[in-house]
Amino acid sequence: MVSLRFLLCFLFVSSVYATIVSHDGRAITIDGHRRVLLSGSIHYPRSTPEMWPDLIKKGKEGGLDAIETYVFWNAHEPTRRQYDFSGKLDLIRFLKTIQDEGLYGVLRIGPYACAEWNYGGFPVWLHNMPEMVFRTTNKVFMDEMQNFTTMIVDMVKKENLFASQGGPIILAQIENEYGNVMGPYGESGKSYIKWCANMAQSLNVGVPWIMCQQNDAPQPMLNTCNGFYCDDFVPNNPNTPKMWTENWTGWFKQWGGKNPHRTTEDVAFSVARFFQRGGTFNNYYMYHGGTNFDRTAGGPYITTSYDYDAPLDEYGNLNQPKYGHLKQLHDVLHSMEKILTYGNISTIDFGNSASATIYRTKEGSSCFFGNGNENSDATISFQGESYVVPAWSVTILPDCKNEAYNTAKITTQTSMMVKKPNEAEDTPSTLKWSWRPENMDNFLLKGKGESTQTQLFDQKVVTNDQSDYLWYMTTVKFKKRDPFLGKNMSLRVNSTAHVLHAFVNGKHIGNQYAENGKFNYIFEKDVKFKSGRNVIALLSITVGLANYGAFFESKPAGITGPISITERNVDETIVKDLSAHKWSYKTGLNGFENQLFRTESTSKWSVESVPFNRTMTWYKATFKAPLGNDPVVVDLLGLGKGTAWVNGNNIGRYWPAFISSENGCAAKCNYRGPYHAEKCLTNCGEPTQRWYHVPRSFLNAEGDNTLVLFEEMGGNPSLVSFQTIRVGSVCANVYEKNSIELSCDRKPISAIKFASFGNPDGNCGSFEKGTCESSNNTIDILTQECVGKEKCSIDVSTEKFGAPDCTGSARRLAVEAIC
Ligand code: GAL
Repeated sequence: MVSLRFLLCFLFVSSVYATIVSHDGRAITIDGHRRVLLSGSIHYPRSTPEMWPDLIKKGKEGGLDAIETYVFWNAHEPTRRQYDFSGKLDLIRFLKTIQDEGLYGVLRIGPYACAEWNYGGFPVWLHNMPEMVFRTTNKVFMDEMQNFTTMIVDMVKKENLFASQGGPIILAQIENEYGNVMGPYGESGKSYIKWCANMAQSLNVGVPWIMCQQNDAPQPMLNTCNGFYCDDFVPNNPNTPKMWTENWTGWFKQWGGKNPHRTTEDVAFSVARFFQRGGTFNNYYMYHGGTNFDRTAGGPYITTSYDYDAPLDEYGNLNQPKYGHLKQLHDVLHSMEKILTYGNISTIDFGNSASATIYRTKEGSSCFFGNGNENSDATISFQGESYVVPAWSVTILPDCKNEAYNTAKITTQTSMMVKKPNEAEDTPSTLKWSWRPENMDNFLLKGKGESTQTQLFDQKVVTNDQSDYLWYMTTVKFKKRDPFLGKNMSLRVNSTAHVLHAFVNGKHIGNQYAENGKFNYIFEKDVKFKSGRNVIALLSITVGLANYGAFFESKPAGITGPISITERNVDETIVKDLSAHKWSYKTGLNGFENQLFRTESTSKWSVESVPFNRTMTWYKATFKAPLGNDPVVVDLLGLGKGTAWVNGNNIGRYWPAFISSENGCAAKCNYRGPYHAEKCLTNCGEPTQRWYHVPRSFLNAEGDNTLVLFEEMGGNPSLVSFQTIRVGSVCANVYEKNSIELSCDRKPISAIKFASFGNPDGNCGSFEKGTCESSNNTIDILTQECVGKEKCSIDVSTEKFGAPDCTGSARRLAVEAIC
């Protein structure tokens, strides 16, 4: 009995064992140790629970100390006071996965997130509450915000997940970047931020609260920085350590846009500079971007892929060299943790944007040599030695003598990903399709919805965002002898519908969508009206609700008018202004209500005359899951716009017909100079997004799988195919005296395609020999060391590869290996 008591007591004590997280002007201190913290954002609903352990493990192996996530209010409380924490929304399971991996957590409750997430994370029912204004001293808003925030905190506390309870969470966030938009809120904005601080503080989480981009953050809130660079950032309080909550590793993508890339060298440069200048916490936004499944993409027009050019790609593969080059940087920074957080700092300015920062303790010193000049390399003389620091780079010397790392010198392999066709047995090269029309008779011919109003409403107000679709319908009568009948008439709609389809008397007269970011446009089409009753049915489709800006909740969506019938003559005449007509409304489409996307659906589908280029059409096919474990994508080239499901799981909106413009891409991207989102683009003139992620957990490894598409604009499904993604080849291009590891990500290296030791030219996939080259057979040496192995490590040295005479240029090894 005594021993049982002792045991219980011991268990009790150990489960409440607290981790003390504090801070001072220098750093976050955890259990008495000042820390250099590297963290990465992974948003749990942008991947599946089955993917979490691997993603988090890769974060840890990549040298992270912490994983950061937002909590998306609209996902968890889709209807007021009805909560969902299942599947991808299992916040507690995600936090426990972080804990199991031995990492810390940063919990950004917000509950405003932004994050290119639908409506910035706010539920639309909240907007539809009477007297509502978001993010200001509005009583209804504050009550709801407090309710949700408290609920999340209580849930997390109940599981002992705050560090103060022995759990992993070391920091919590309230609001997000309010400082960037608070001007228009005036005095109320200032009071609101004070209220946020008090409210958060009253929740007693036992770890510090942060506020991003809030330079009036009230004590004890920690004001932190977001951006591509934060080395200049100075927190508003001398007791606040210099912290960076969002170091953007790339950028997001919008329909009609291109693929943004941020170079590895520049991300590394921004991090090294931040630590050179006294930073202590850096979080990568995103470390894994993932996928906007279902209707979670924000907007308008955020794509389904949220790859972000992050260190882990959309599917969870290592994005090399970004992942590896940053891992090396993390290792170096961690090795200097003590000196960085306790040392005295002195700086030498060499002019021309070159500087040395020396951190000194009694035990020793560590140095950063920075060169912020974007054109010229710097030669820095320090303690009798001279060091060349390439333009726009930082060199780190943990002992102030030997260069351990330079942000512009990448020694990590570049991985080229390839897509392989589905090799599952019995899968024919083209899928066999069946189809159904979307049943719209009630709307197109009868104009009959669920409610009527003599007013045009914003879409959010009617749908509560339960669907992307809203019908606006009205009838118009022309007397037999109406003088306008027979004349050139057109229907004119002033629209803020993200996509608009118009039908008159059952006939599809056209569609339109926002181009070049213009979400307010005029739709106008010639129409032949008949005498008697005419039915006008307009289908408005949202493609992600706005997520950013002051008062973004009121940005219009849908058809707010005016709508008119116009006689098109020299002098235009408004024949009828329909704006205050009797409008009948209907949210959603039949096929969604009847759940045609469910595998169990018993509705009839036809295999006869499968149509192409038909608007509002459902398609269905069965397929076998691709063999193996590689991530799966479905290629939707040929389709227009719509939604796709695999075995009933909504894999997101698709829109491969949206082609980006031809201009603005460059073959090679210069890492030097400040990055901005338009700087390094690829994919010009191509579909914004052609491939869509199908997580393995959505698939049945054995037996049949079902793909259902709802095509709105008209498309051709005959090219649709399932593919897997894997590393196709790996390359390195490394100066002598470095070593390089080649790895095919758990698959054997099958051949060496190119190798040259000398001064080779070109990039991965297009290497060429230079003007000097070793006479040793470099390909043979590498074949011996690497082929047949999953990875190999090579010292790039003259002992191994010979000593070609490359007078004037440093010797390099370039290699391309096939996986
Ligand atoms: C920030 C915001 C993030 C994300 C990012 C851009 O302003 O805090 O949530 O939206 O921009 O990706």
